[in-house]
Amino acid sequence: MREQFEIRDHDGAGRLGRLAVPRAGVTVETPALLPVINPNVLTIDTGRLQSTFGVDALITNSYIIHSTDRVRERALEEGLHDMLGFDGAIMTDSGSFQLAEYGDIDVTTAEIVEFQHAIGSDIATPVDVPTPPDVDRDRAEADLETTETALADAAAIDTGEMLVNAPVQGSTHPDLRERAGRHAAATGLDVFPIGAVVPLMNGYRYADVVDVVMGAKRGLDPDCPVHLFGAGHPMMLALAVACGCDLFDSAAYALMARDGRYLTVSGTEHLEELTYLPCSCPICAEHTPASLRDAEDARRERLLAEHNLHVTLEELRRVKEAVRSGTLLELVERRARGHPAMWDGYRALLDHRDQLEATDPVSKGTFFSLSADSARRPEIVRHHDRLGRLSVPESLLLTVSKPPSDHDYDAVWRVRPPFGPIPPALSEIYPLTAETPSRPNAALRRAAVDGVARLATDHPDTAITFAHDGWEETVLDRLPESVALENLATIGR
Ligand code: GUN
Ligand code: ZN
Repeated sequence: MREQFEIRDHDGAGRLGRLAVPRAGVTVETPALLPVINPNVLTIDTGRLQSTFGVDALITNSYIIHSTDRVRERALEEGLHDMLGFDGAIMTDSGSFQLAEYGDIDVTTAEIVEFQHAIGSDIATPVDVPTPPDVDRDRAEADLETTETALADAAAIDTGEMLVNAPVQGSTHPDLRERAGRHAAATGLDVFPIGAVVPLMNGYRYADVVDVVMGAKRGLDPDCPVHLFGAGHPMMLALAVACGCDLFDSAAYALMARDGRYLTVSGTEHLEELTYLPCSCPICAEHTPASLRDAEDARRERLLAEHNLHVTLEELRRVKEAVRSGTLLELVERRARGHPAMWDGYRALLDHRDQLEATDPVSKGTFFSLSADSARRPEIVRHHDRLGRLSVPESLLLTVSKPPSDHDYDAVWRVRPPFGPIPPALSEIYPLTAETPSRPNAALRRAAVDGVARLATDHPDTAITFAHDGWEETVLDRLPESVALENLATIGR
């Protein structure tokens, strides 16, 4: 039992929760975005993060603080909260990122975790090894051992009320991510960041991000709070939450602002190329692309950073509302349409539908839209599973059209893509109440036929006739021999 983390609502693998951060005396509502604060460069005043943006947790880098004499002395003297002027929760990173970039750092886990404690961090991080993507197994496993030692070193320190991160590595080997997750969950540490995904995100490899996260999640316990290290582009928040991530950190809002980039929920735009600002945040309401371009450099950077943070936090609220109302997968699908790389991520997510199934609430709101790829959604899978458990009569007509007024079957059920056979008793019950397209495409017809096939396989003693209106052979070929076919298009009904 992890008593700091309480999960309050679920949609798919996504959840709303509350993470108690005892040393800060605050509880952070999740999913949460922790803006990255560079202790040397304050793009946005940290006090305003709380007052204007409603941010209640941020992340900064203890290694940078430790290796800058002036800042180190100030942090030790005043404490991080006073130094940054922020009384929410402060997570600190360890220098692992610098380790990955430069190959070497001059602190051990014991030293840097003690230092994080000394400067008043609320959530500390050991020196894990961010293994890059695509390395061979041997390298990934060797690095993982170093990370596991770092976690053990951190767990051995008395850190009082401070929470400690247990990063999960394993490169692009999902089974190693799973093993790392299982190990991390057993350390007794508190928060579980999934590491080294930044290179994947920089390469727009969202399908790989999903596989890595879903691997780690299989190893972690369901009640582990999960942080996706370095992720915070608004475009990917819905997808990452749908994978079961609870915490994010974003340097993107500030880094992108530095070179004139403007974030949106479907990607990154260049201020140079914009004629209109597609946003109503306080910055965009007061400016035009031209007035931003004309602003003096430091001011333009701050204004862009503020817009970037506004859209990111707005998207996070939208994601939370979607989890609450049970429409998260619709939002993921909408975002997937915004960018081809996101579409790959969405498809990869649906490949893990068994894992989504495990936590998806059985009953949600009454509306969800359906596209070709949503034919693989948990609701459809669950309906097909349910067909096997129903009692069915000896002879059954399944029809895509209005039932005939007189017939010799024991019963007639409608077939509606993508669900497939709809027993009359369930037709008014979620999810069969969902809006579905009246002109289904082949993917939806295929899903419906899979439902018919499932019914036939699970009830071999029932004589099933399937009446379709000219469905293609490639789809009908998925049915077992035992299903009799009738083509309503050719018999003129
Ligand atoms: N920031 C981004 N990625 C990582 C990671 O893998 N480990 C740590 N400690 N910080 C990160
Ligand atoms: Zn804006």
